[in-house]
Amino acid sequence: MTTHDQFQLHLQQLPPQPETAIETIFTLGNGHFGVRASNPLQGTQTAYRGQPGLLVNGFYDLTPLSYGENYFGYAQNSQTICLLPDPRLIIFEIDGIRSDEQPFDVKIVDKNLDMQTGVLLELFDVTTPTNKQFRLTLQSFASQDDTHFYVINYRISALNFTGPVTIIKQHAYIDQQIARDENDVRAAQRDMTLDRTFTSGQLPTMMISTRKSQLALLVAMTPLPDTNMPLTTIDDLPAYSRTLDLTSGLTVNFSFAYAIGNPHPLLDATQLLQDFTETAESRLAGQTFDALLASSQQRLVDFWRDSDIALHGDDTLAKAIRFNLFHLFQAAGRDGQTSIAAKGLTGTGYEGHYFWDAEMFMFPFFLYTQPKIAKSLLLYRYKTLPQAQQRARELAIKNGALYPWRTINGEEASSYYPAGTAQVHIDADIAYAVAAYVAVTDDQTFLLQAGYEMIIQTARFWLAYGHYTADGMDFVIEDVTGPDEYTAMVNNNYFTNRMAQYNLQIAVDYSTQLKHEHPEKLVALNVTTAEIDAFQRAATHMTLPYDDERRIKLQDDVSTTKPVWPIAETPRNQFPLLLHFHPMTIYHYQVNKQADTMMSDFLFPDDQDQAQLQRDFDYYEAITVHDSSLSRAIFGILAHRLHQPEKAYQYFTETAMMDLTNAQDNTGSGIHAANMGGSWLSLIFGFAGVALTADHQLRLDPRLPENWTSLRFQLQFRGRKLVFTVTQSALTCRLIAGKPLTIYLQHEPILITNESISHRFL
Ligand code: BGC
Repeated sequence: MTTHDQFQLHLQQLPPQPETAIETIFTLGNGHFGVRASNPLQGTQTAYRGQPGLLVNGFYDLTPLSYGENYFGYAQNSQTICLLPDPRLIIFEIDGIRSDEQPFDVKIVDKNLDMQTGVLLELFDVTTPTNKQFRLTLQSFASQDDTHFYVINYRISALNFTGPVTIIKQHAYIDQQIARDENDVRAAQRDMTLDRTFTSGQLPTMMISTRKSQLALLVAMTPLPDTNMPLTTIDDLPAYSRTLDLTSGLTVNFSFAYAIGNPHPLLDATQLLQDFTETAESRLAGQTFDALLASSQQRLVDFWRDSDIALHGDDTLAKAIRFNLFHLFQAAGRDGQTSIAAKGLTGTGYEGHYFWDAEMFMFPFFLYTQPKIAKSLLLYRYKTLPQAQQRARELAIKNGALYPWRTINGEEASSYYPAGTAQVHIDADIAYAVAAYVAVTDDQTFLLQAGYEMIIQTARFWLAYGHYTADGMDFVIEDVTGPDEYTAMVNNNYFTNRMAQYNLQIAVDYSTQLKHEHPEKLVALNVTTAEIDAFQRAATHMTLPYDDERRIKLQDDVSTTKPVWPIAETPRNQFPLLLHFHPMTIYHYQVNKQADTMMSDFLFPDDQDQAQLQRDFDYYEAITVHDSSLSRAIFGILAHRLHQPEKAYQYFTETAMMDLTNAQDNTGSGIHAANMGGSWLSLIFGFAGVALTADHQLRLDPRLPENWTSLRFQLQFRGRKLVFTVTQSALTCRLIAGKPLTIYLQHEPILITNESISHRFL
């Protein structure tokens, strides 16, 4: 396979998929918005089967949550990402029939996503109700350079007729209907009404506004210079339209650019409209498809230079990895105002919410290869720290901050608290990401300006939420839910306590460091010596439950006393269990939705020896059903650490291929972005054996699956850019930017310079 081929994702190479899954897989995005690769004729036509639309990061409406028993402190509103009118939409009128009024037959002939240029090429064969056939070819991209731009080129050629065709491009379809799966809680969608207003002028602009969140978003469209399509009015709305004489065999071609603004408070939207139209107009003036593409593509060249992973020995997996990395890049907010939703910007699943997925599963990829994006993800959490402090007060927690389990605007949006709000480990997950960021980048300015405060406020939460046992010897954290959502409201969830312990410890460590370097910072946050001592004492006395008989870490105080769910006897069609059993039925058993205690073994490798890891792994693997997509990557990495290559490989393959094969059967509502991050974790923290030592040194302990010949990847570490190539028996390293660095290969120190040097390992 040539290098070019390795970056092409071809529909024909994928297993057969439902149309909605194809729309997700081929979605284009750039962290600011995503456009599903739907039938461009769909519009409001429910006769078509797809779920077309535009999703803008951070553009949501509030939808009231209704409870039969509305207890104090319950989240009152959900935040739901808005599915906006599809900019791909095009209307054809042939023989007096409009494609948005009477469905044409649209067949997908082919799709190809070029992940190097970011261009999606699509071929459709369209048949009108009067049996006229034409081929519609689309080329589109979401600009990676100016993330406000979406650009699309249409080509049409008549296949069996010669005659007039009217083409209409206009903003519309606010009331777009889409096919929904009402029975899947994960796909939950709420009804919302959006308002729109139009302005004409040089650039027809549509303002979309939400009723409850009171946000406004502007979308402007313009034909590009090679497109001769006059502006007119159709159905009282501005439209570009032209009637052409299609000659069988000849192709007509036209291009449009869309400028998609930032979510903005509705209040001063009039001023916004004027500024937006003016800047969009001047930025797009004279621009061609190719010129806009060239600058976008350059950003992708930079992305792949720093973030690519080249796996040799298995072409299918190699491509799947690139697909995952490409989607991670497309999903991540880069503006400090937004984060990464569980489904990226590819679908409305989970209502577009951000979860711990962002910090624990996706953040490391950005941290080590795109640190600017990593920083911007943390800045989003810093921006929402006031809401987290407020939320802690609502829960009568006197001190500190409690981040929301799921959110867009920083407020808690989970309506089912036992598997939602109670996952307070989110606080420590965020603190963990902050500490990793500071360790890997050495960005002391971020630590001072934002990171330290986040660590302190989250550490305060643990002190306030936990307590000491009567004898004062053990610090316990009760009534929480760990990552495993099939076990809820427990005492001393191992993972939560271990993460809280880490959170408290880094609060002590950074306070000790800053006390000398920047005492004013401690004063500003009211951090006293007594408080630092209290953090230390709670960390030291943290309860980490252990089953002395089985000699395993206990998921929580009583987790092994329940009966084990009969997994082998449960028919395959009863999974995921959450769609077939009441939560209380599930809670009654030992059955794990996903890695829980094993997350702790993964994140803290020095906590246990191999024998302990093996016992934990064997026990928890047997009771885990992987109903969450966040599970397999972690089990795979641990199987690798335990020298179980076949198992590790199996888990890894399932992780890497999950969305390309629609393995969870819900790719239609969006990618599984955390799982995609998990595939990077598997390669880097698994097969390449990358780890940060306690004193913040980089260590590699690589071991490749037998059939791989090599794995090449880049990492950024404390101002350096490093490139590594691992083969079955050697590690080659080279410094491409920054000062020489000593790292550890297994336990041997090696110096990385700008000379490419190979080191053999066992
Ligand atoms: C998982 C959570 C995850 C959420 C969003 C759930 O199914 O159990 O751990 O955060 O999905 O991906």
